Amino acid sequence: MSCPYSGKHDPSGPALKPYGRSDITYNTYLKIEELTSLQKLQSEPPHHDEMLFIVIHQAYELWFKLILGEIKVAMDHMKKNEVLRAHHFVKRCVEVMKLLVQQIHILETMTPVEFLEFRDRLMPASGFQSSQFRELEFVAGLKDEKYLVFFDNEPKALAALKERLAAPDLRDVYFDLLRANGFKIPKNAAETERSQNPGDREPTIRALLSIYQRPDDNLPLYLLTEKLVELDEYLGLWRIHHINVVERVIGFKQGTGGSSGVSYLKSTTTKKAFPSLWEARTYLEKV
Ligand code: HEM
Repeated sequence: MSCPYSGKHDPSGPALKPYGRSDITYNTYLKIEELTSLQKLQSEPPHHDEMLFIVIHQAYELWFKLILGEIKVAMDHMKKNEVLRAHHFVKRCVEVMKLLVQQIHILETMTPVEFLEFRDRLMPASGFQSSQFRELEFVAGLKDEKYLVFFDNEPKALAALKERLAAPDLRDVYFDLLRANGFKIPKNAAETERSQNPGDREPTIRALLSIYQRPDDNLPLYLLTEKLVELDEYLGLWRIHHINVVERVIGFKQGTGGSSGVSYLKSTTTKKAFPSLWEARTYLEKV
């Protein structure tokens, strides 16, 4: 690059010098000092791999925080019938979920024995106590009071979860959006999403089927609907990848939260936030 003042060629490029305000820097803005001081090892003497274990969980929690915020904004747009704006924010959640599915495998660089060297120190802390993960399930429509028991000693988390249980979730808001757009979604659609009997969902599926049968007639709704299915899909994929990592690391040992471990986790893989959207495909016909 040539130097504009000397007219000579400057092989090192322009001088690097900071400009602008000095009260806000990368480190102060992002609170890097605080952030990097939040990893407190429990092992004594400190076990090298515990840092990885803490960092990965903290990274998940930061992303959970973001997803919860984005889902709220998406629901606000759905309430105002702003379908493509809602799609925009659900899409962001899906992109984050894709990262979260991959990220869990970093833990496989830790050998099972290395994990055992500090695992006892974590008891009885467990993923069961991730209030943000449970909030994510609840806001997606997967509400289940049985998990509240893990937050008995954490009043703030418990209150947030109870609030989620009482508030309209993504399912409710999505079905209201369809109703606002003229689809005859039954009143009890959110309830039948919870039913173990797929037949109970048939009236809902019939009411929304045209979105899938003729996507071009309702393109924004089609795009949003498929993004919601994708969100559901990646949440399910996270469950499966987490199970594989758990099995690789602790086999069939009990969980630190007291569950049966892998077999409990496997029982969660059938959870779907929008079963009717998955089942709708069964009813589609050639055009
Ligand atoms: C070596 C790594 C890991 C092991 C061995 C492990 C093990 C387990 C086990 C056994 C459970 C069942 C509950 C219990 O009894 O404790 C569980 C649940 C859970 N874990 Fe992990 N986990 C690991 C990493 C992670 C990571 C990185 C996350 C990220 C957030 C995570 C999040 C969760 C969540 C949210 C649950 C509750 C799932 C549900 O109830 O559906 N785990 N984990």
